[in-house]
Amino acid sequence: MRRRLFHWTEPEWQTLKGRTAVVTGSTSGLGREIAVQFARAGARVVLVARNQERAQRTRDEIMSSTGNTDVSIVVGDVGDLESVRHCAQELRAFGAIDVLVHNAGALSRSLATTRDGIELTTAVHLVGPYLLTNLIEPELVAGRARVIWVTSGGMYAEPLDLDWLATPSSAYDGVKAYAKVKRAQVTLVEHWAPRLTSRHVTMTVMHPGWVDTPGLRQSLPAFRRVVRPLLRTLNEGIDTVAWLATTSDDSVTPGTLWLDRRVRSRHRFARTRNSDTPQQRERLWSFCEQKSGLQGQNRGTP
Ligand SMILES: NC(=O)c1ccc[n+]([C@@H]2O[C@H](COP(=O)([O-])OP(=O)(O)OC[C@H]3O[C@@H](n4cnc5c(N)ncnc54)[C@H](OP(=O)(O)O)[C@@H]3O)[C@@H](O)[C@H]2O)c1
Repeated sequence: MRRRLFHWTEPEWQTLKGRTAVVTGSTSGLGREIAVQFARAGARVVLVARNQERAQRTRDEIMSSTGNTDVSIVVGDVGDLESVRHCAQELRAFGAIDVLVHNAGALSRSLATTRDGIELTTAVHLVGPYLLTNLIEPELVAGRARVIWVTSGGMYAEPLDLDWLATPSSAYDGVKAYAKVKRAQVTLVEHWAPRLTSRHVTMTVMHPGWVDTPGLRQSLPAFRRVVRPLLRTLNEGIDTVAWLATTSDDSVTPGTLWLDRRVRSRHRFARTRNSDTPQQRERLWSFCEQKSGLQGQNRGTP
């Protein structure tokens, strides 16, 4: 509806021609569609995926449907820190990176902890992407990159809760956990982006709306049944990622939250706004530094 109401034009796809775009979680749903559209635009696309076989199948399908053969694979699990370090090493070989989309994600129904001792949702959506971004920062700087995080509107329901991030309760609720971590993503981006701006890296975060993906079908089947007629197509879901990746620099304020090509408020309720204090942001930054193993590496704080 907004597309028609505001007379949206196509994203400026030509700006991606020959550019290097890295997409995590690119074997399914939104990530796969982002990779397809970037490849169609002539970008050199790097698929970050945890499963080699699925990654190869996805690459073959993208190459044959778009005619772009410059599609590469980096195999890695973004929730596993050693794997993230390997991914970063491989990504560095591509040289300048122009676009990085932190899309990989899943909703975990029960409490699980990674071998790094981090709650799984937190590792996949927050600590892993934080580490990856830091490790390839020189390549992002060289590409004057757009770094785009895919969050969820579910985060509006949850406050910034560092106590929970530090010690997830054993009375685990996967939907709540997902929303809390998505909230932390939004705050992290706002806190971090200004430091990157002077290095010409533009970091933003976006909500795709509710989109009919394999992930949604699997994680929220009842929700999907109820809202099915309202769900977006993949193409509608990725529109704002495409727009953020291709629009002119002066159209994008770093650190902002986007939905449907517009900056949105980060809070809808006083309860969550009150949780988002400078002290909690500092705690969040320290949490990411410490959990990712980057603490004490003299990187400065934002
Ligand atoms: N669909 C929606 O309505 C909606 C709404 C708001 C936000 N989002 C967000 O959008 C993003 C994509 O979701 P989706 O709906 O497209 O889900 P999806 O269809 O399940 O796709 C998720 C992708 O992430 C990958 N992935 C999951 N965990 C990973 C890990 N540890 N390391 C590397 N890759 C991993 C999956 O790989 P495998 O193929 O190996 O499983 C898959 O490629 C997520 O961040 C999600 O939170 C979705």
